[in-house]
Amino acid sequence: MSIDLLLGLQWGDEGKGKIVDVLTTNYDIIARFQGGPNAGHTLKFDGFSHVLHTIPSGIFHPTALNLIGNGVVIDPVIFQTEIEKLAPFNIDFPNKLLISKKAHLILPTHRLLDAASEASKGKAKIGSTLKGIGPTYMDKTGRNGIRVGDILLPDWKERYENLKTKHLKMLDFYEGKIEFELSILEDAFFSAIDELKKLPFVDSEHLLHTALKEGKKVLAEGAQGSLLDIDFGTYPFVTSSTTTAAGACTGLGIAPNTIGEVFGIFKAYATRVGSGPFPTELFDEAGETMGRVGMEFGATTGRSRRCGWIDLVALKYAIRVNGVTQLMMMKGDVLSGFETIKVCTSYKTTEGSIEHLPFSIEPEHVTAEYIELAGWKEDLTAMTAEDQFPKEFNDYIAYLEKELETPIKIVSVGPDRKQTIFR
Ligand code: IMP
Repeated sequence: MSIDLLLGLQWGDEGKGKIVDVLTTNYDIIARFQGGPNAGHTLKFDGFSHVLHTIPSGIFHPTALNLIGNGVVIDPVIFQTEIEKLAPFNIDFPNKLLISKKAHLILPTHRLLDAASEASKGKAKIGSTLKGIGPTYMDKTGRNGIRVGDILLPDWKERYENLKTKHLKMLDFYEGKIEFELSILEDAFFSAIDELKKLPFVDSEHLLHTALKEGKKVLAEGAQGSLLDIDFGTYPFVTSSTTTAAGACTGLGIAPNTIGEVFGIFKAYATRVGSGPFPTELFDEAGETMGRVGMEFGATTGRSRRCGWIDLVALKYAIRVNGVTQLMMMKGDVLSGFETIKVCTSYKTTEGSIEHLPFSIEPEHVTAEYIELAGWKEDLTAMTAEDQFPKEFNDYIAYLEKELETPIKIVSVGPDRKQTIFR
Protein backbone atom coordinates (compact mmCIF):
# COMPACT_ATOMS: atom_id res chain seq x y z
CA MET A 1 0.00 0.00 0.00
CA SER A 2 1.94 3.01 -1.16
CA ILE A 3 1.74 6.25 -3.06
CA ASP A 4 4.68 7.53 -5.11
CA LEU A 5 5.52 11.23 -5.36
CA LEU A 6 6.89 13.19 -8.26
CA LEU A 7 8.44 16.59 -7.55
CA GLY A 8 10.55 19.29 -9.15
CA LEU A 9 13.91 19.84 -7.44
CA GLN A 10 14.79 23.28 -8.83
CA TRP A 11 12.72 26.40 -9.53
CA GLY A 12 9.98 24.62 -11.46
CA ASP A 13 9.73 23.91 -15.20
CA GLU A 14 11.81 20.74 -14.82
CA GLY A 15 9.48 18.71 -17.03
CA LYS A 16 7.21 17.10 -14.45
CA GLY A 17 4.25 16.97 -16.84
CA LYS A 18 6.18 14.97 -19.42
CA ILE A 19 7.36 12.39 -16.88
CA VAL A 20 3.95 12.03 -15.20
CA ASP A 21 2.51 11.38 -18.65
CA VAL A 22 5.22 8.78 -19.34
CA LEU A 23 4.71 7.05 -15.98
CA THR A 24 0.91 7.12 -15.94
CA THR A 25 0.59 3.65 -17.49
CA ASN A 26 1.94 2.29 -14.16
CA TYR A 27 -0.71 4.02 -12.05
CA ASP A 28 -4.45 3.91 -11.38
CA ILE A 29 -4.72 7.45 -10.03
CA ILE A 30 -2.75 10.64 -10.72
CA ALA A 31 -3.33 13.19 -7.96
CA ARG A 32 -2.18 16.81 -8.07
CA PHE A 33 -1.49 18.08 -4.56
CA GLN A 34 -0.65 21.80 -4.58
CA GLY A 35 -0.36 24.96 -6.63
CA GLY A 36 -2.85 26.10 -9.19
CA PRO A 37 -2.92 27.66 -12.66
CA ASN A 38 0.50 29.23 -11.99
CA ALA A 39 1.77 25.84 -13.21
CA GLY A 40 2.16 24.98 -16.89
CA HIS A 41 2.82 21.31 -17.53
CA THR A 42 3.75 20.72 -21.17
CA LEU A 43 3.15 17.31 -22.75
CA LYS A 44 4.19 16.33 -26.27
CA PHE A 45 3.11 13.23 -28.14
CA ASP A 46 1.87 12.18 -31.58
CA GLY A 47 2.90 15.57 -32.99
CA PHE A 48 0.72 17.52 -30.52
CA SER A 49 1.83 19.80 -27.72
CA HIS A 50 -0.50 20.49 -24.76
CA VAL A 51 -0.15 22.69 -21.71
CA LEU A 52 -2.05 21.71 -18.58
CA HIS A 53 -2.41 24.13 -15.68
CA THR A 54 -4.69 22.56 -13.08
CA ILE A 55 -5.60 19.21 -14.59
CA PRO A 56 -3.24 16.35 -13.64
CA SER A 57 -0.89 15.15 -16.38
CA GLY A 58 -2.40 11.65 -16.52
CA ILE A 59 -5.50 12.94 -18.32
CA PHE A 60 -4.48 11.64 -21.76
CA HIS A 61 -4.33 8.00 -20.73
CA PRO A 62 -7.46 5.94 -21.15
CA THR A 63 -7.67 4.26 -17.75
CA ALA A 64 -6.09 6.46 -15.08
CA LEU A 65 -8.31 8.50 -12.81
CA ASN A 66 -7.14 12.09 -12.29
CA LEU A 67 -7.69 13.85 -9.01
CA ILE A 68 -7.31 17.50 -8.09
CA GLY A 69 -6.44 17.38 -4.40
CA ASN A 70 -7.43 19.64 -1.52
CA GLY A 71 -4.05 21.40 -1.61
CA VAL A 72 -4.70 22.80 -5.09
CA VAL A 73 -6.27 26.21 -5.73
CA ILE A 74 -8.63 26.36 -8.70
CA ASP A 75 -9.54 29.29 -10.92
CA PRO A 76 -12.83 28.15 -12.47
CA VAL A 77 -12.35 30.42 -15.50
CA ILE A 78 -8.90 29.06 -16.38
CA PHE A 79 -10.11 25.56 -15.58
CA GLN A 80 -13.02 25.88 -18.00
CA THR A 81 -10.67 27.03 -20.80
CA GLU A 82 -8.40 24.09 -20.02
CA ILE A 83 -11.30 21.67 -20.37
CA GLU A 84 -12.45 23.34 -23.61
CA LYS A 85 -8.96 23.06 -25.13
CA LEU A 86 -9.04 19.32 -24.52
CA ALA A 87 -12.25 18.91 -26.56
CA PRO A 88 -10.46 17.25 -29.54
CA PHE A 89 -9.44 14.37 -27.28
CA ASN A 90 -13.00 13.32 -26.37
CA ILE A 91 -12.06 12.79 -22.75
CA ASP A 92 -14.87 11.40 -20.62
CA PHE A 93 -14.36 14.10 -17.98
CA PRO A 94 -16.96 13.21 -15.34
CA ASN A 95 -15.51 9.69 -15.18
CA LYS A 96 -11.87 10.67 -15.45
CA LEU A 97 -11.44 13.87 -13.48
CA LEU A 98 -12.43 14.35 -9.85
CA ILE A 99 -12.10 17.43 -7.68
CA SER A 100 -11.61 17.55 -3.93
CA LYS A 101 -14.40 19.36 -2.11
CA LYS A 102 -11.70 20.89 0.06
CA ALA A 103 -9.75 22.54 -2.78
CA HIS A 104 -9.91 26.35 -2.54
CA LEU A 105 -11.28 28.64 -5.22
CA ILE A 106 -9.44 31.56 -6.78
CA LEU A 107 -11.93 34.44 -7.00
CA PRO A 108 -11.64 37.29 -9.51
CA THR A 109 -10.66 39.61 -6.65
CA HIS A 110 -7.81 37.27 -5.65
CA ARG A 111 -6.31 37.87 -9.07
CA LEU A 112 -6.80 41.61 -8.73
CA LEU A 113 -5.12 41.59 -5.33
CA ASP A 114 -2.17 39.63 -6.75
CA ALA A 115 -1.76 42.19 -9.54
CA ALA A 116 -2.14 45.19 -7.21
CA SER A 117 0.29 43.75 -4.66
CA GLU A 118 2.92 43.08 -7.32
CA ALA A 119 2.44 46.52 -8.88
CA SER A 120 2.98 48.13 -5.47
CA LYS A 121 6.26 46.33 -4.85
CA GLY A 122 8.21 47.93 -7.69
CA LYS A 123 11.72 46.48 -7.88
CA ALA A 124 10.99 44.05 -5.02
CA LYS A 125 8.22 42.29 -6.93
CA ILE A 126 8.14 38.48 -6.73
CA GLY A 127 7.52 38.07 -10.45
CA SER A 128 4.25 36.28 -9.66
CA THR A 129 2.35 34.64 -12.51
CA LEU A 130 -0.53 36.96 -11.45
CA LYS A 131 -2.95 34.04 -11.20
CA GLY A 132 -4.09 35.01 -7.70
CA ILE A 133 -2.13 32.23 -6.00
CA GLY A 134 -0.73 34.20 -3.04
CA PRO A 135 -4.00 35.93 -2.06
CA THR A 136 -5.95 32.64 -2.33
CA TYR A 137 -3.57 30.75 -0.05
CA MET A 138 -3.62 33.75 2.31
CA ASP A 139 -7.40 33.43 2.58
CA LYS A 140 -7.04 29.67 3.08
CA THR A 141 -4.65 30.00 6.02
CA GLY A 142 -6.53 33.08 7.24
CA ARG A 143 -9.66 30.85 7.34
CA ASN A 144 -11.65 33.07 5.00
CA GLY A 145 -11.40 31.03 1.81
CA ILE A 146 -14.16 29.48 -0.26
CA ARG A 147 -13.80 25.81 -1.08
CA VAL A 148 -15.18 23.82 -3.99
CA GLY A 149 -17.62 22.03 -1.66
CA ASP A 150 -18.94 25.37 -0.43
CA ILE A 151 -20.46 26.24 -3.80
CA LEU A 152 -23.07 23.52 -3.23
CA LEU A 153 -24.25 25.22 -0.02
CA PRO A 154 -27.22 27.63 -0.04
CA ASP A 155 -25.31 30.51 1.55
CA TRP A 156 -22.30 30.40 -0.73
CA LYS A 157 -23.15 33.57 -2.69
CA GLU A 158 -23.45 35.46 0.57
CA ARG A 159 -20.01 34.22 1.59
CA TYR A 160 -18.68 35.19 -1.82
CA GLU A 161 -20.09 38.72 -1.44
CA ASN A 162 -18.59 39.09 2.05
CA LEU A 163 -15.15 38.03 0.88
CA LYS A 164 -15.40 40.21 -2.23
CA THR A 165 -16.31 43.23 -0.09
CA LYS A 166 -13.27 42.61 2.07
CA HIS A 167 -11.06 42.27 -1.01
CA LEU A 168 -12.39 45.52 -2.49
CA LYS A 169 -11.46 47.32 0.73
CA MET A 170 -8.00 45.79 0.49
CA LEU A 171 -7.77 46.95 -3.12
CA ASP A 172 -8.47 50.51 -1.90
CA PHE A 173 -5.18 50.26 -0.06
CA TYR A 174 -3.42 49.86 -3.41
CA GLU A 175 -5.42 52.73 -4.90
CA GLY A 176 -4.61 53.44 -8.53
CA LYS A 177 -2.24 50.50 -8.96
CA ILE A 178 -4.53 48.56 -11.29
CA GLU A 179 -7.65 49.16 -13.30
CA PHE A 180 -10.44 46.62 -13.52
CA GLU A 181 -14.04 45.99 -14.54
CA LEU A 182 -15.18 43.54 -11.88
CA SER A 183 -18.61 42.83 -13.33
CA ILE A 184 -17.07 41.36 -16.51
CA LEU A 185 -14.73 39.18 -14.45
CA GLU A 186 -17.62 38.05 -12.26
CA ASP A 187 -19.81 37.09 -15.24
CA ALA A 188 -17.04 34.81 -16.49
CA PHE A 189 -16.47 33.47 -12.98
CA PHE A 190 -20.07 32.49 -12.29
CA SER A 191 -20.56 30.93 -15.69
CA ALA A 192 -17.37 28.89 -15.12
CA ILE A 193 -18.66 27.83 -11.69
CA ASP A 194 -21.67 26.28 -13.47
CA GLU A 195 -19.26 24.32 -15.68
CA LEU A 196 -17.18 23.24 -12.70
CA LYS A 197 -20.32 21.80 -11.11
CA LYS A 198 -20.59 19.29 -13.98
CA LEU A 199 -17.58 17.44 -12.55
CA PRO A 200 -17.72 15.17 -9.51
CA PHE A 201 -16.73 16.83 -6.22
CA VAL A 202 -15.35 14.20 -3.88
CA ASP A 203 -14.01 13.60 -0.39
CA SER A 204 -10.63 13.02 -1.99
CA GLU A 205 -8.78 11.83 1.11
CA HIS A 206 -11.42 9.11 1.61
CA LEU A 207 -11.22 8.16 -2.06
CA LEU A 208 -7.43 7.83 -1.83
CA HIS A 209 -7.50 5.88 1.43
CA THR A 210 -9.96 3.41 -0.11
CA ALA A 211 -7.96 3.14 -3.33
CA LEU A 212 -4.74 2.45 -1.42
CA LYS A 213 -6.50 -0.18 0.71
CA GLU A 214 -7.68 -1.89 -2.47
CA GLY A 215 -4.06 -2.02 -3.69
CA LYS A 216 -4.47 0.68 -6.34
CA LYS A 217 -1.36 2.56 -7.40
CA VAL A 218 -1.30 6.31 -6.91
CA LEU A 219 1.13 8.92 -8.20
CA ALA A 220 1.10 12.33 -6.51
CA GLU A 221 2.02 15.07 -8.97
CA GLY A 222 3.74 18.19 -7.70
CA ALA A 223 3.87 21.60 -9.32
CA GLN A 224 6.53 24.35 -9.27
CA GLY A 225 9.80 23.26 -7.63
CA SER A 226 11.41 22.72 -4.24
CA LEU A 227 13.27 26.04 -4.35
CA LEU A 228 9.89 27.79 -4.68
CA ASP A 229 8.53 26.08 -1.54
CA ILE A 230 6.92 28.51 0.91
CA ASP A 231 9.20 27.31 3.75
CA PHE A 232 12.28 25.88 2.07
CA GLY A 233 12.47 27.98 -1.07
CA THR A 234 14.28 31.27 -1.61
CA TYR A 235 11.78 33.25 0.48
CA PRO A 236 10.16 35.68 -0.25
CA PHE A 237 10.75 34.83 -3.92
CA VAL A 238 8.67 31.67 -3.70
CA THR A 239 5.16 30.50 -4.40
CA SER A 240 2.59 30.19 -1.61
CA SER A 241 2.28 26.41 -1.28
CA THR A 242 4.34 23.51 0.03
CA THR A 243 5.94 22.21 -3.14
CA THR A 244 8.10 19.67 -1.27
CA ALA A 245 7.16 16.10 -0.28
CA ALA A 246 5.36 17.17 2.89
CA GLY A 247 2.91 19.05 0.64
CA ALA A 248 1.66 15.73 -0.75
CA CYS A 249 0.59 14.71 2.78
CA THR A 250 -1.28 17.95 3.50
CA GLY A 251 -2.46 18.39 -0.08
CA LEU A 252 -4.00 14.95 -0.40
CA GLY A 253 -4.57 13.76 3.15
CA ILE A 254 -2.16 10.86 2.91
CA ALA A 255 0.06 9.67 5.76
CA PRO A 256 3.88 9.88 5.50
CA ASN A 257 4.19 6.11 5.98
CA THR A 258 2.12 5.47 2.85
CA ILE A 259 4.75 7.14 0.64
CA GLY A 260 6.79 4.75 -1.49
CA GLU A 261 9.13 6.16 -4.10
CA VAL A 262 9.92 9.88 -4.28
CA PHE A 263 10.87 10.81 -7.85
CA GLY A 264 12.90 14.01 -8.08
CA ILE A 265 13.13 15.75 -11.44
CA PHE A 266 15.87 18.16 -12.41
CA LYS A 267 17.24 19.74 -15.56
CA ALA A 268 20.84 19.08 -16.65
CA TYR A 269 21.28 22.83 -16.10
CA ALA A 270 19.12 25.30 -14.15
CA THR A 271 16.42 27.84 -14.93
CA ARG A 272 14.34 30.29 -12.99
CA VAL A 273 11.42 32.48 -14.04
CA GLY A 274 10.47 35.56 -12.03
CA SER A 275 12.60 37.35 -9.46
CA GLY A 276 14.89 35.98 -6.76
CA PRO A 277 18.44 34.78 -6.22
CA PHE A 278 20.03 32.32 -8.65
CA PRO A 279 23.72 31.78 -7.84
CA THR A 280 24.63 29.96 -11.08
CA GLU A 281 22.77 32.33 -13.40
CA LEU A 282 24.55 33.12 -16.67
CA PHE A 283 24.44 36.53 -18.31
CA ASP A 284 26.56 35.58 -21.30
CA GLU A 285 26.30 33.68 -24.55
CA ALA A 286 26.24 30.31 -22.75
CA GLY A 287 23.04 31.30 -20.91
CA GLU A 288 21.55 32.70 -24.09
CA THR A 289 22.31 29.40 -25.89
CA MET A 290 20.64 27.34 -23.13
CA GLY A 291 17.54 29.53 -23.32
CA ARG A 292 17.35 29.36 -27.11
CA VAL A 293 18.11 25.66 -27.55
CA GLY A 294 16.05 24.67 -24.51
CA MET A 295 13.16 26.92 -25.59
CA GLU A 296 13.10 28.36 -22.12
CA PHE A 297 9.90 30.38 -22.14
CA GLY A 298 7.25 30.08 -19.43
CA ALA A 299 4.39 27.75 -20.43
CA THR A 300 1.94 29.88 -18.41
CA THR A 301 3.22 33.43 -18.88
CA GLY A 302 5.48 33.21 -21.96
CA ARG A 303 8.24 34.99 -20.03
CA SER A 304 11.88 34.15 -20.84
CA ARG A 305 13.43 31.94 -18.22
CA ARG A 306 16.76 32.86 -16.68
CA CYS A 307 19.36 30.13 -17.36
CA GLY A 308 22.48 28.90 -15.60
CA TRP A 309 24.65 25.90 -14.75
CA ILE A 310 23.49 23.08 -12.54
CA ASP A 311 23.78 23.81 -8.82
CA LEU A 312 24.62 20.75 -6.73
CA VAL A 313 24.45 22.65 -3.43
CA ALA A 314 20.80 23.45 -4.11
CA LEU A 315 20.06 20.03 -5.61
CA LYS A 316 21.48 18.12 -2.63
CA TYR A 317 19.37 20.30 -0.34
CA ALA A 318 16.21 19.57 -2.37
CA ILE A 319 16.97 15.83 -2.39
CA ARG A 320 17.27 15.83 1.40
CA VAL A 321 14.20 17.97 2.07
CA ASN A 322 12.10 15.66 -0.12
CA GLY A 323 13.68 12.28 0.69
CA VAL A 324 14.19 11.62 -3.03
CA THR A 325 14.74 7.94 -3.85
CA GLN A 326 15.12 8.20 -7.66
CA LEU A 327 16.24 11.01 -9.93
CA MET A 328 15.15 11.93 -13.43
CA MET A 329 17.38 14.16 -15.51
CA MET A 330 15.77 16.31 -18.18
CA LYS A 331 17.09 18.25 -21.16
CA GLY A 332 20.61 16.79 -21.32
CA ASP A 333 20.28 17.31 -25.08
CA VAL A 334 20.31 21.10 -24.59
CA LEU A 335 23.92 20.97 -23.40
CA SER A 336 25.25 19.36 -26.62
CA GLY A 337 27.88 21.59 -28.20
CA PHE A 338 29.32 23.18 -25.05
CA GLU A 339 33.11 22.77 -24.91
CA THR A 340 32.95 22.24 -21.15
CA ILE A 341 30.10 21.83 -18.69
CA LYS A 342 30.31 23.69 -15.41
CA VAL A 343 28.91 22.25 -12.18
CA CYS A 344 28.48 24.34 -9.04
CA THR A 345 29.77 22.25 -6.13
CA SER A 346 30.03 24.85 -3.35
CA TYR A 347 29.34 28.47 -2.45
CA LYS A 348 31.98 30.98 -1.45
CA THR A 349 30.85 32.96 1.60
CA THR A 350 32.56 35.38 4.00
CA GLU A 351 33.03 32.38 6.28
CA GLY A 352 34.73 30.30 3.59
CA SER A 353 33.47 27.70 1.16
CA ILE A 354 30.25 25.87 2.10
CA GLU A 355 28.39 22.92 0.60
CA HIS A 356 25.01 23.39 2.26
CA LEU A 357 22.29 25.88 1.37
CA PRO A 358 22.53 28.84 3.76
CA PHE A 359 19.75 31.16 4.96
CA SER A 360 20.33 33.53 2.05
CA ILE A 361 21.72 32.78 -1.39
CA GLU A 362 21.52 36.39 -2.53
CA PRO A 363 24.62 37.52 -4.50
CA GLU A 364 25.90 39.57 -1.56
CA HIS A 365 26.08 36.40 0.56
CA VAL A 366 27.19 33.63 -1.81
CA THR A 367 29.16 33.16 -5.02
CA ALA A 368 28.97 29.87 -6.91
CA GLU A 369 32.17 27.80 -7.12
CA TYR A 370 32.51 25.38 -10.03
CA ILE A 371 34.31 22.36 -11.36
CA GLU A 372 34.44 21.79 -15.13
CA LEU A 373 33.69 18.60 -17.02
CA ALA A 374 34.28 17.80 -20.69
CA GLY A 375 31.35 18.60 -22.96
CA TRP A 376 30.06 16.62 -25.95
CA LYS A 377 29.17 17.58 -29.51
CA GLU A 378 26.71 14.89 -30.51
CA ASP A 379 22.99 15.54 -30.88
CA LEU A 380 21.26 13.33 -28.26
CA THR A 381 17.68 13.85 -29.36
CA ALA A 382 17.37 10.77 -31.56
CA MET A 383 19.20 8.44 -29.19
CA THR A 384 17.15 5.65 -27.71
CA ALA A 385 19.56 3.89 -25.36
CA GLU A 386 22.28 4.78 -22.92
CA ASP A 387 24.96 2.93 -24.88
CA GLN A 388 24.40 5.38 -27.77
CA PHE A 389 25.31 8.35 -25.56
CA PRO A 390 28.73 9.98 -26.02
CA LYS A 391 31.21 9.05 -23.30
CA GLU A 392 31.28 12.61 -21.93
CA PHE A 393 27.51 12.63 -21.42
CA ASN A 394 27.62 9.28 -19.62
CA ASP A 395 30.48 10.67 -17.50
CA TYR A 396 28.31 13.69 -16.64
CA ILE A 397 25.46 11.42 -15.54
CA ALA A 398 27.84 9.21 -13.52
CA TYR A 399 29.39 12.25 -11.83
CA LEU A 400 25.98 13.64 -10.83
CA GLU A 401 24.81 10.27 -9.55
CA LYS A 402 27.89 9.93 -7.36
CA GLU A 403 27.65 13.47 -6.00
CA LEU A 404 23.91 13.32 -5.40
CA GLU A 405 24.09 9.79 -3.92
CA THR A 406 20.85 8.90 -5.69
CA PRO A 407 20.32 6.85 -8.87
CA ILE A 408 19.30 8.66 -12.06
CA LYS A 409 16.61 6.35 -13.42
CA ILE A 410 15.34 8.36 -16.37
CA VAL A 411 17.27 10.53 -18.82
CA SER A 412 15.12 12.67 -21.10
CA VAL A 413 16.62 13.86 -24.39
CA GLY A 414 13.72 15.83 -25.84
CA PRO A 415 10.16 16.94 -25.10
CA ASP A 416 8.37 14.01 -26.73
CA ARG A 417 7.13 11.00 -24.76
CA LYS A 418 9.35 8.84 -26.92
CA GLN A 419 12.55 10.74 -26.07
CA THR A 420 12.73 9.10 -22.65
CA ILE A 421 15.45 6.64 -21.70
CA PHE A 422 15.02 4.35 -18.69
CA ARG A 423 18.19 3.21 -16.90
P1 IMP B 1 3.06 32.71 -8.02
O1 IMP B 1 3.06 31.28 -7.61
O2 IMP B 1 2.30 32.94 -9.29
O3 IMP B 1 2.65 33.62 -6.92
O4 IMP B 1 4.57 33.11 -8.39
C1 IMP B 1 5.60 33.13 -7.41
C2 IMP B 1 6.95 32.79 -8.03
O5 IMP B 1 6.94 31.42 -8.43
C3 IMP B 1 7.28 33.58 -9.29
O6 IMP B 1 8.68 33.78 -9.35
C4 IMP B 1 6.85 32.67 -10.42
O7 IMP B 1 7.56 32.92 -11.61
C5 IMP B 1 7.20 31.32 -9.83
N1 IMP B 1 6.37 30.24 -10.35
C6 IMP B 1 5.09 29.97 -10.03
N2 IMP B 1 4.64 28.88 -10.68
C7 IMP B 1 5.67 28.44 -11.42
C8 IMP B 1 5.84 27.33 -12.30
O8 IMP B 1 4.95 26.51 -12.50
N3 IMP B 1 7.07 27.21 -12.86
C9 IMP B 1 8.09 28.08 -12.60
N4 IMP B 1 7.98 29.12 -11.80
C10 IMP B 1 6.78 29.31 -11.20
